[in-house]
Amino acid sequence: MQASTVTAAAPAEQVQIHLGERSYPIVIGTHLLDDPATWAALPRASTALIVTNATVAPLYAQRLQAALAGRYPTIHTVVLPDGEEFKNWATLNLIFDALLQHGSDRKTVLFALGGGVVGDMTGFAAASYMRGVPFVQVPTTLLAQVDSSVGGKTAINHPLGKNMIGAFYQPQLVVCDLDTLRTLPKRELSAGLAEIIKYGPIADMAFFDWIEANLDALLAREPAALAHAVKRSCEIKANVVGQDEREAGLRAILNFGHTFGHAVEAGLGYGAWLHGEGVGCGMVMAATLSQRLGLIDAAFVQRLTTLIGKAGLPVKGPQLASTDNAGRYLELMRVDKKAEAGEIKFVVIDAPGSAAVRTAPDALVRAVIDACCA
Ligand code: NAD
Ligand code: GLY
Repeated sequence: MQASTVTAAAPAEQVQIHLGERSYPIVIGTHLLDDPATWAALPRASTALIVTNATVAPLYAQRLQAALAGRYPTIHTVVLPDGEEFKNWATLNLIFDALLQHGSDRKTVLFALGGGVVGDMTGFAAASYMRGVPFVQVPTTLLAQVDSSVGGKTAINHPLGKNMIGAFYQPQLVVCDLDTLRTLPKRELSAGLAEIIKYGPIADMAFFDWIEANLDALLAREPAALAHAVKRSCEIKANVVGQDEREAGLRAILNFGHTFGHAVEAGLGYGAWLHGEGVGCGMVMAATLSQRLGLIDAAFVQRLTTLIGKAGLPVKGPQLASTDNAGRYLELMRVDKKAEAGEIKFVVIDAPGSAAVRTAPDALVRAVIDACCA
């Protein structure tokens, strides 16, 4: 596929998440937000609450509210402050305040309109308000469309660790309107590419080849390229989540690059580097670790590093401490959710297209961090 300026609407596509009674569709296409038909299968309720943030609200909240108006007699909107640094208890409480102030009942449907921060917090609020109310993911970032809106992980951050407080709670529906990606800042587009690139080494090298061949089209936001990338990413994630919803094992592979990346986010202070940027350099570190464990060759690490760099992402990790940088990474990574009894578990590539979870000696991890930090 060549990069082009074609802007024709792609027909909507669906990917199904198969989880028994918690199954739901991911709808991917253009012109979805404003179309009442998009929302026609949702449960009826007297009220709905749109949860969004100060950046996304002026762009899309009115349009979503208008499309939902025929379905929900009363629709309120709560506008959260924008930023990873606000993914915390205080902001979560603003959602509960709005729900209670508006007398929301058990059937009230929550709509998460925004990126992964809004999606993760809205999902957590939906999981806990009255012990569970329905919610819908309306992701408006590339990262949220290819990853965070799918699979039911919801969370807030703790100063000591990323996404440490949350719940598994599936949405009723995910609607990826590709048109919303037109207003996304370039840096955020690159952050989303990190999670797309991730799916290649862990699950699908044919997709990795495709991303390499179509990176320019993705960076140019060519609609057909975006549609394919979102759909294939959701298919891979749906397949993994369908086998292991609550991360008893397999689902951990979706965290390739995240153990290092979460340390970057927490270590620099949430919001300093974007989640996708932490994942970008984190994948280089995890691939380098895989190579030093003798699992993959240096040529593949270089190939992955080149793609991450071309996507506009950092390939070197930041310094998190002036005296013992590797020690600080290790300290932060011990708070990772995969860690057991203080032992860090790394997602490694055991062959291109296949991932596994492994431990590694501290000395080796230190060497990798030293080699991979700027
Ligand atoms: P984000 O939610 O902070 O959004 C990025 C920025 O883009 C924000 O400033 C936002 O206001 C803005 N924005 C959103 N949509 C826009 C649009 N259409 N036009 C213009 N601006 C827009 O960040 P993100 O990258 O979407 O998500 C990152 C979060 O997702 C992290 O907290 C991460 O932990 C979480 N995450 C969760 C999962 C999961 O499975 N639940 C998976 C991956 C990441
Ligand atoms: N983003 C990792 C997961 O959903 O499991």
